[in-house]
Amino acid sequence: MDEPRGEDLLQITDRRTGRSYDIPVVEGAVRATDLRQLRLDDDDPGLLVYDPAFLNTGSCRSAITYIDGERGILRYRGYPIEELAEHASFLEVAYLLLRGDLPSPDALGNWTRRITQHTFIHENVKRFIDGFHYDAHPMGTLVSTVAALSTFYPQAHLLSDAGLRREQVLRLIAKMPTLAAFAYRHAMGLPYVYPDDDLSYTGNFLNMMWKATELRYQPDPTLERALDVLFILHADHEQNCSTHTMRTVGSSHADPYSAMAAAAAALSGPLHGGANEQVLRMLNTIGSVDHVPEHIRRVKAGEFRLMGFGHRIYRNFDPRAQLIKRVADDVLAVTGPSPLLDIALELERIALQDEYFIEHRLYPNVDFYSGIIYSAMGFPVAMFPVLFALGRTPGWLAQWEEGLLDPEQHITRPRQVYVGPAERHLPVPTS
Ligand code: CMC
Repeated sequence: MDEPRGEDLLQITDRRTGRSYDIPVVEGAVRATDLRQLRLDDDDPGLLVYDPAFLNTGSCRSAITYIDGERGILRYRGYPIEELAEHASFLEVAYLLLRGDLPSPDALGNWTRRITQHTFIHENVKRFIDGFHYDAHPMGTLVSTVAALSTFYPQAHLLSDAGLRREQVLRLIAKMPTLAAFAYRHAMGLPYVYPDDDLSYTGNFLNMMWKATELRYQPDPTLERALDVLFILHADHEQNCSTHTMRTVGSSHADPYSAMAAAAAALSGPLHGGANEQVLRMLNTIGSVDHVPEHIRRVKAGEFRLMGFGHRIYRNFDPRAQLIKRVADDVLAVTGPSPLLDIALELERIALQDEYFIEHRLYPNVDFYSGIIYSAMGFPVAMFPVLFALGRTPGWLAQWEEGLLDPEQHITRPRQVYVGPAERHLPVPTS
């Protein structure tokens, strides 16, 4: 960081001791370690910042994704999400996130070719998948098989070798659709479909999901593009729970497969990437537009949350939700109308004018409409978090590598405020 100018100082007076301190403010932040100098005496380890759930703690400096939650802005490497969703492909966005700039046409061709070379998985991975129970949740299968990949690439732990790091990045981006589709086909009792490297990244994923007896699967171009856009919208979202997990596990210098398995596990929770699954279950439970007011009443009574609403960062709207609504129109024009969309629109309409939701600044988030699209495209709800993981893969990898290369980073190790018993002793034996 640059040296702070004189006016960029925070003056703190510690009224416990009467001492004053000048704490540098750089890039809108103070360093938590600078507060350690606020001590009562020589035995005091210094002032600790207590921040459960990291509501106001910057854990890294990052040049990847910019979010302004108040103004509903999301940019990858400076490019507005709206422009990327309109004009870029998912693989271009993956390149942008990982390399910092959009690829030239030649670089994109090379990148696509290299990813396409890695789409197959070792036949033994198929055998692990076979070992899962017939109704295994595909997210559990995905998490386990991503972790298992590390056993096939023992060089993956050689993190200081840039070439090897890039190799694992390509493998993970390339193999995620294959693992995701195989997890689905296993759960459905269907034979696995091998990658078709003549199709686009997303088209090949649809092929591995849906191919039946036809000689060659041809994806519907509207659905192929819609899914590509959904992947773009999910590709990164700065320091969310799963990305933080990716960086944290990466900070111990675990290999990227292990780190990404942990990130995917973090994503699977219903408050994170599992929310789109919960949205669809909720819409199905509501069942019809007439039942919406009763559902809202129960949410306000604190019985449960309105899934797909609310966000830690976005306080006025989630720009991804607005784009997704448009994608929903394109998809439903192909697949036919969805009664769930009517319920969702009514929920949104009522919630947005309700005092509770206005006061709590709750708006539809990315997950509110994505489930309707996935469902219309034929994905079962259990696949929704898997699709989220697929889209988030380049973001996780970009953040992982940025963390590894950041000289300021060390192994992640938060502190705690101890609130347990003071020192005590076992009773002395009497005999
Ligand atoms: N429905 C009803 N009330 C809510 C909701 C909701 N969806 N979200 C927050 N609230 C209320 C909450 O009850 C609390 O009220 P009070 O202050 O009166 O006790 C207040 O708003 C603040 O809640 P919080 O849990 O402290 O807020 P947070 O910023 O920690 O949580 C959230 C963010 C996304 C976890 C939360 O809004 C939520 O649970 N939403 C539903 C799940 C969901 O849609 N998650 C997907 C998030 S977007 C995709 C992703 O990034 O993973």
